Amino acid sequence: MFSSRPAASSLGRPAALVAQRRLSTASPLTCILEERRGPVGLITLNRPKALNALSPTLVRELVQEVKRFDADPEIGAIVVTGSGDKAFAAGADIKAMQPLSYMDMHKARLFGELDELSSVRTPIIAAVNGFALGGGCELAMTCDFILAADTAKFGQPEIKLGTIPGLGGTQRFTRAVGKSRAMELVLTGDQMSAEEARERGLVARVVPAADLLDDALKTAGKIAAQSQPIVAMAKTCVNVAFETSLAEGLRFERAIFYSTFATHDQKAGMAAFAAKEKPNFKNE
Ligand code: CAA
Repeated sequence: MFSSRPAASSLGRPAALVAQRRLSTASPLTCILEERRGPVGLITLNRPKALNALSPTLVRELVQEVKRFDADPEIGAIVVTGSGDKAFAAGADIKAMQPLSYMDMHKARLFGELDELSSVRTPIIAAVNGFALGGGCELAMTCDFILAADTAKFGQPEIKLGTIPGLGGTQRFTRAVGKSRAMELVLTGDQMSAEEARERGLVARVVPAADLLDDALKTAGKIAAQSQPIVAMAKTCVNVAFETSLAEGLRFERAIFYSTFATHDQKAGMAAFAAKEKPNFKNE
């Protein structure tokens, strides 16, 4: 299904770092499942009885395994999905949070680890297979793009719990769907269908629920077949569009574009095109 890739030491992923990360993952995973599908790392949020609600343990395991895949030169893309057919994640774990005080939250920096996903170089696809509410919607938006089952529902219902989105919902949701609709959903707690999420640009594509995982793995496989350092550069440039002015972003993009010409893979990619062959990227 996927093209095989050389186990090259790629930009930012020295073998020693990979080994070090592997050593640190000795304890068994209790809230997620992780597996390799060729060059794709698949992570499944696995608390189906709680609709995959984000407990502190789940978040710690998720971040740990994403970072482990990111440090692995044989992994070129990551897919995150939810177990069962009902939910990607129905939010942060309300029952775990319910007794916490302000000081508990502050001292534990609750869910602060999720910020680390933003510095991961390997592209992360959220395959949203049902409810993506509250922290679940925020987790999906933290990923690089979202593929949604036609049954998926998105929303930030924290207002109904007497709180507000705390993992980026007021910021990323607003940038994705526009102020007016984001404000309506954040203030009412209502949900958005997968189709509306696609129309508004929150979601890249909507696919039949039964095909979602295969589609996500296939899409991830296409990304993993490209040059990893070039993919990382392209990802960084797109993300910069959200953090800077157009003029600054265009200058940044031009500098990165020129710098791709210092790589082996640009030479290989263009030579292969001219020779009507498939490129042999070495991640160099
Ligand atoms: N936390 C903890 N448990 C949850 C949960 C959550 N976020 N969402 C669902 N569950 C649990 C339910 O308590 C229930 O457990 P029991 O069987 O032990 O009672 C089980 O999952 C199944 O849920 P429901 O019976 O409620 O299923 P449903 O189909 O009737 O409703 C739902 C589905 C609309 C998603 C509903 O479960 C719901 O509204 N969940 C909460 C959604 C929410 O408010 N999310 C925001 C959380 S706060 C947050 O995320 C803050 C932040 O920004 C960081």
